[in-house]
Amino acid sequence: MQERNREKTQLPVSVRMLNADNPKERSCAWKIERGSFKFTDTRRVFEENLKSRTCYGLVAVHHGRIIGITIYSFHDKDIELHSIAVEREYQKMGAGSQMLAKLIDVLIKKRGKRIITVVREINLEAQICFRSSGFKATEVIQDFYPPEKTTENCYIMQYFADPREVYFKHKCGGKATVRKFPIFNGQNRISQLLS
Ligand SMILES: CC(C)(COP(=O)(O)OP(=O)(O)OC[C@H]1O[C@@H](n2cnc3c(N)ncnc32)[C@H](O)[C@@H]1OP(=O)(O)O)[C@@H](O)C(=O)NCCC(=O)NCCS
Repeated sequence: MQERNREKTQLPVSVRMLNADNPKERSCAWKIERGSFKFTDTRRVFEENLKSRTCYGLVAVHHGRIIGITIYSFHDKDIELHSIAVEREYQKMGAGSQMLAKLIDVLIKKRGKRIITVVREINLEAQICFRSSGFKATEVIQDFYPPEKTTENCYIMQYFADPREVYFKHKCGGKATVRKFPIFNGQNRISQLLS
């Protein structure tokens, strides 16, 4: 992961796996998920996915209390990041980055190639958070969300274990093919907004 110059105060958190067999932990995770996103699964589906190990969770714990969650699943050895959220009063204090650092560790240990996630077009803080942990915006998708929910586009953001090359699976004529792209130069609409 890229080393960053952090002079800001970092919230002391420990990041560990969520204990999916513990109803209290599942409930905490659900509350953070529900409080952070407008559109979510139902509580039953969310908790079932954790219990059945369809999805895994990381939690950020501050003074014994869960204040952040990261929900992900494996596809082969690669990781799909479904959601990451930190309770509002603890945001912008480094908890999100610490969970992403842990997720990157998981990827490296599994010898996976990438972490992939989708971010809403207007969710600039999430885009900045992913970018500062080494994710790159690789694609814009229109009509990704159901139109009754939002007409926003979404960005695909990916973290590549090998930063020299950008691979992604491109659906073409119903067949998934792997395309190879040159190194991303760090310039896109997000970076233009910020410079
Ligand atoms: C996205 C989210 C998880 C980030 O967690 P966080 O703990 O606040 O993030 P961090 O404090 O680790 O910040 C990471 C970087 O993002 C930047 N950042 C975070 N929130 C920001 C904001 N509101 N405005 C500008 N920059 C922001 C930080 O300055 C930091 O940049 P740096 O590394 O260059 O210093 C948190 O904002 C959140 O829970 N949002 C609601 C849920 C959501 O939208 N999740 C993402 C969709 S899956």
